[in-house]
Amino acid sequence: QMGAPMKKPVITEDMITNKIADGYDLNFDVNKNYTTKTATVNGKAITYRVYENIVYVAKPVDIAYQTINIYIPEEYFKNKSVGKYNTKTAPIFFPNTVGGYMPGAAGIPGNGRDGQPDASLVALSNGYVVASPGARGRTLEKDGKYTGKAPAVIVDLKAAVRYLRYNDNKMPGRSDRIISNGTSAGGAVSALLGATGNNRDYEPYLKEIGALNARDDIYAVSAYCPITNLENANTAYEWMFNDVKTYKKIEISMLDYNVERKYTEGTLTDDEILRSNDLKKMFPAYLNSLKLKGKNGKLLTLDKNGNGSFKEQIKQYYIDSANVALKKGTDLSEFEFLTIKNGKVVDLDYDKYIVYMGRQKTPGAFDNVDLSTGENNEFGDETTNNKHFTEYMLEHSTVNGTMADKKIIKMMNPINYLSNTKVKYWRIRHGAIDKDTSLAIPAILAIKLENLGKKVDFVSPWATPHSGDYDLDELFRWMDKVVT
Ligand code: DHB
Repeated sequence: QMGAPMKKPVITEDMITNKIADGYDLNFDVNKNYTTKTATVNGKAITYRVYENIVYVAKPVDIAYQTINIYIPEEYFKNKSVGKYNTKTAPIFFPNTVGGYMPGAAGIPGNGRDGQPDASLVALSNGYVVASPGARGRTLEKDGKYTGKAPAVIVDLKAAVRYLRYNDNKMPGRSDRIISNGTSAGGAVSALLGATGNNRDYEPYLKEIGALNARDDIYAVSAYCPITNLENANTAYEWMFNDVKTYKKIEISMLDYNVERKYTEGTLTDDEILRSNDLKKMFPAYLNSLKLKGKNGKLLTLDKNGNGSFKEQIKQYYIDSANVALKKGTDLSEFEFLTIKNGKVVDLDYDKYIVYMGRQKTPGAFDNVDLSTGENNEFGDETTNNKHFTEYMLEHSTVNGTMADKKIIKMMNPINYLSNTKVKYWRIRHGAIDKDTSLAIPAILAIKLENLGKKVDFVSPWATPHSGDYDLDELFRWMDKVVT
């Protein structure tokens, strides 16, 4: 299940519901500008108030994206409860619609492409308040300037959180129980939101767009296949896929997990193979610098060939994944790289598994020599459309590319902020056949969080590709459990 909201039509000034003569009214009013809707989820009707197209900053750059949609169960206006919650206790589900680091408009609850209720609709039926923020992205332009490059996406999400914090006592739900959710680039920014709550680095950017003066930390993070830790994702990718010299590639314009993907096949060129070898060699130094510890308390490391306990851990995630599938009754007999004994997967041939998964991206997968990736585009600035964000690609640039601002690269990577975050609960998923980024990337995020004493629910679901919101029952069980 892709589960993502449908792309919205373009929002125009006359559709903005909090427009006032001299700007935007940032005080939420439950009694104004709403409609009421009823939907059916699992045979149960849920009626909710709809507050849409609310600009959440005083000085928006793009009103098509800097808006939030808020949905509140009608029962909360009658002092009744929905599921486990009431008007005082309801958590706020905060799903972004970001994909491919493209702009993502505020989401609308509904049925997904599979016809099933999406995460927001399920949230409402479970008694959550839903607040879906829009955010700018890499392709936006206005008056000859790029207006959505990094760090716009995270700045916007923070501004939307501030709107909810600021208006906490004006609406049902608890702004100290905001749970962020997102997939892929949206998963990355969901994690980033959790990592960087109230951090001063973002303050100048928030000021510039007239964000409210309020906290922007959240309560918990749900992240599906986060395309994160971008400046280390090139080396992680080649560490994993170096042996695979053929690929099935998607076009940059179809990176967004929401849209149908078309693949073209190819073989790595000699240059690409050299680059892959270079990048693969660079990964162990980075991984070892993190000083990650495994469940047994021992350091997770890699030798210069890329072998070692960290690789064993990655292999173990795949084995655990296969075991969960086996327990659920999935027939795994077709996978000859698995060793199954007495109804348990006891081994997996790692090299064969990687070949089975296949390579999807060419080196560099995220920062490329020709500035051709979505991430190169994300790290552009007002006047330069694409930039490098790794030294290696800057040095090997075939297009005389320039380097993104170091501070902005830092601000886009949650790893840099984890030691300061107070967010305790993290749920991270990365499908076992997802090759949009190496499993090493979400694993590093999860393990670092575990090492910091956080409660982390991280698994790699079997035979699951690059996608999100595919396990809503489990997601909501987790959310209900962590909200205390
Ligand atoms: C997405 C996918 C990618 O492969 C990528 O590099 C960035 C974003 C996405 O689906 O959002």
